[in-house]
Amino acid sequence: MQVNEYKPLIVAFCCNWCSYAGADLAGNNRLNYPADVKIIRVPCSCRVNPMFVLRAFQRGADGVIICGCHPGDCHYTSGNYYTRRRMAALFSMLDYLGIEKERTRVEWVSAAEGAKFAATMNDFVETVTALGENKRLEDLRCKK
Ligand code: FES
Repeated sequence: MQVNEYKPLIVAFCCNWCSYAGADLAGNNRLNYPADVKIIRVPCSCRVNPMFVLRAFQRGADGVIICGCHPGDCHYTSGNYYTRRRMAALFSMLDYLGIEKERTRVEWVSAAEGAKFAATMNDFVETVTALGENKRLEDLRCKK
């Protein structure tokens, strides 16, 4: 008998210089994280327009995580400071709309932190799985 196990769709925006390299390192070190995490590489975490996050939820994402360089390490000097402030504002608005805070996250992962990347993704997927499907901003036209 086949059990229909719920697997959340997670969108992870990763900056090219640190977090994406961290994901690469996790892969090279054969550290496991769920395949439900779809990574989108961006030049810097500040490239993530808040509309990208809204669009991801609209297209059926159950959780969105933005990963960037540690504060002070951004390749573009201060991009991640903008990310932090911008996403804090966005996440509080999403919370107001009824999208649980736990469905969104900003994390700093350096290129040397493959283990942290895998642990972060495992933890995030576990948290979102516990919340279940997100239907708040879902656009029915995007359904398969
Ligand atoms: Fe990584 Fe800006 S380059 S956060």
